[in-house]
This record gives sequence, structure tokens and C-alpha cells, in this order.
Amino acid sequence: MSARGMLARTLHEWAGGTSARKEALVTCTPFLKWAGGKRWLSPLAPVLREFAPRRYFEPFLGSGAMYFALQPSRAVLSDANASLIETYVSIRDDWQSVWRHLTAHDRQHCDEYYYRVREMVPRTAATRAAQFIYLNRTCWNGLYRVNRSGRFNVPVGSKSRALLDTDNFALTASVLSAAQIRNDDFADVIAAAGAGDLIFADPPYTVRHQFNGFVKYNQKLFSWDDQVRLCRALEAALDRGASVVCTNADHTSIRELYGERFGVIGLSRFSSIAGRGGSRGSYAEVLIYGQGAVK
Ligand SMILES: C[S@@+](CC[C@H](N)C(=O)[O-])C[C@H]1O[C@@H](n2cnc3c(N)ncnc32)[C@H](O)[C@@H]1O
Repeated sequence: MSARGMLARTLHEWAGGTSARKEALVTCTPFLKWAGGKRWLSPLAPVLREFAPRRYFEPFLGSGAMYFALQPSRAVLSDANASLIETYVSIRDDWQSVWRHLTAHDRQHCDEYYYRVREMVPRTAATRAAQFIYLNRTCWNGLYRVNRSGRFNVPVGSKSRALLDTDNFALTASVLSAAQIRNDDFADVIAAAGAGDLIFADPPYTVRHQFNGFVKYNQKLFSWDDQVRLCRALEAALDRGASVVCTNADHTSIRELYGERFGVIGLSRFSSIAGRGGSRGSYAEVLIYGQGAVK
């Protein structure tokens, strides 16, 4: 069977629930809650691990749910959100300081304290990282939203703790030590992937001619032109011999965009990130895949 056929068969078996159960590694839970987070897709990680990529690329990192489930031995992780990426680097390089400051926030947490911390401009990378994690865990619905001047402006939520039972920053730092961590546009990151590499791309979901609930959570909207730019970058990576697994909304415009060069499998799930009652609901999603020719 060709390499392309292998990836197609494995993913179809997994999506259809007929693949053998694969054991997960030591659990390393993502330390953030993130809009569009892929914890629900993490059972796919053991399947991807079978392909033993030379390097794993995740250009839309967010909370890194797939990365932490996969725990590859070499990785390139990136996101356009500079504060998010600084937080990852701080945990990887100095998790003890981040943990110390986060513990202090947890002790003092209340609504009034939240708004005081939200206005602060911390001076060091570790204190900025602790502020980022504290706000993410105690704000309304784990949302990330900034105003025109780039200041975080989400109101306080209902959580009473900023520490979680699943926290293990030492393990998180150790898993991240395998990664080169970048703050770049996806196109620059994907351009570095070549033969034997695996790209897992989970972009914001936009479809042609439509603004849906998925696109509003970031400073800069992810436009349809960005979706086309992403598809072209992934096609070029395929030509260089990289393999691709990508998620997106199940919409004709997305199926048309990827249909020629990639395989597309329909998935569906319940999305809870859309906060307003009216926009909660069931979003159909697709898994897009392609395997570069082995040279
Ligand atoms: C759907 S989220 C990824 C969620 C992630 N898979 C997880 O499990 O949490 C999409 C991410 O893309 C990032 N992003 C938006 N535009 C980008 C761009 N042009 N280049 C790189 N990252 C971008 C956002 O900051 C956001 O973190």
C-alpha cells in the first residue's frame, strides 16, 4: 500500500471508530483553555504517532492540545499571538517562576483583584506569563479578546481558583523542551517543513461569504484570503514531502478549496466556546489530510 493510502486508511478507520485502541502517553494536560481548542480530537494523537514524523509542526498552537497529547521528540510550535507564545517560552525556560507568581494570584483571586491584574503591565517574562494564565483561567469562558490598543478586555468569569488539579508545570516544561517555539505567521512556519515532517494545522474557521462565530475571538480576523493562503502553503509543503493533517469547518467552500489535492473526512462535535446562548450549537468539522511522496 502506498504511503498516501496508509494515512488515508488509518484516518478513515479512526474517524469511523474501527481502529484498534491505541495507548496514550503520560497525560500532560494543556495549561490553557482556548477557543477552538482540540482536546476533543486528542484521541487522534496515538494514530498520528504511528507515522513517527521527523519533526512535528503546529503553526496555530493555541492551547496545544494535539501537541501535549502527541509529545513528539522534535517539534516546531508557533502562533501569531505574541503574549501566548511568550507564555509558552516562559514555562519551558523558567516554569518555577511562573508557578510562584501564578500561586500568588490564586491566593488573592476575587473579582476586584482580577480587574486590578488585568490593568497591570508586568515587567518580566515570568510575571507576564503568570498574568496571562491567571486571566485565561478566571476570565469569562476562557475567552481571549483584546481592544484596539491590544489590551486584554474580557470580564471576570465565575471560577474561584486559578490553579487546576491537572497542573504539572514541571512536566509541561519537560514536554516543551522538545520544541522550537516561534511567534510567526503560519506561512513562514509551514515553509520550514519538508520531507518526513508532519504538519497539524488548526486555523480559525472562516468560510467564504460568511462571518461565523469562530472568527471573532482574535485581534485580527482570519479572512477567506488567509484560508486560501493556508491551503497553498500546505500544498507546497506536500510537494516538498511533508504530511498534512488539518481541521476546518465542514462547508462547501472548504471542501472545494482542499478537494483537489487532499482527502477530506467529515467529523462532528458539540462546541461550547461560543458564550452567548444563541450561538452555542453543533458545528460540523472536517479533517483534511495529505501525505507527501516519500523520496
Ligand atoms: C483554533 S485556534 C488553535 C487551537 C489549538 N489547536 C488548541 O488546541 O487550542 C487558532 C489559533 O490560530 C492563531 N492564529 C490566527 N491567525 C494566525 C496566523 N495568521 N498565523 C498563525 N497563527 C494564527 C490564533 O492566535 C489561535 O491561537
